[in-house]
Amino acid sequence: MALVRIPEEGATLSDREAIARRLADAGIVYERWEPSHPVPASASPAEILDAYDEEIARLKQEGGYVTADVIDVGPQTPGLDAMLAKFNREHWHDEDEVRFIIAGKGLFHIRPRTGPVLAIEVEPGDLIRVPRGTWHWFDLCETRRIRAIRLFQDSAGWTPRYTESGAERGFEPVCLGPGQLAGHGAAR
Ligand SMILES: [Fe+2]
Repeated sequence: MALVRIPEEGATLSDREAIARRLADAGIVYERWEPSHPVPASASPAEILDAYDEEIARLKQEGGYVTADVIDVGPQTPGLDAMLAKFNREHWHDEDEVRFIIAGKGLFHIRPRTGPVLAIEVEPGDLIRVPRGTWHWFDLCETRRIRAIRLFQDSAGWTPRYTESGAERGFEPVCLGPGQLAGHGAAR
């Protein structure tokens, strides 16, 4: 289950319906797909895409997405820091950013045109759709691992366009999942 923090309001949302409603107000779609098709950690990209074939087909129809793939990055990924540096500054894309998380965790910050910044921690089972033009930035959590299904309308639209607002500098890129809340990352 995702966790949404709203630092400017001192609020944290962990209830599925409350998260979906608050994100919808900012134009962000949030769904839970798990445990409809659990896949083993060893599953290949093709097996993952097969398992979620129905959901992917529905999203393609709803959003005009034409392709889907699986991204898999971790601490051993060559050039990981350079890759992350492209996305941890506020930017937007000319197409939607659609992610269904299979493994690992990530932290999206969304800055709506009106209203406070939303920090969204995503974990396995979370689907997030960030519409084109939305100002946002992304960080990995401390495990530096994420595996996710991505959908594209046109992969050429995926290039980040930077706002150069510096807004990301006012927010800690730190994940605060249940383990961290319980005691600084203690084992759960
Ligand atoms: Fe992005």
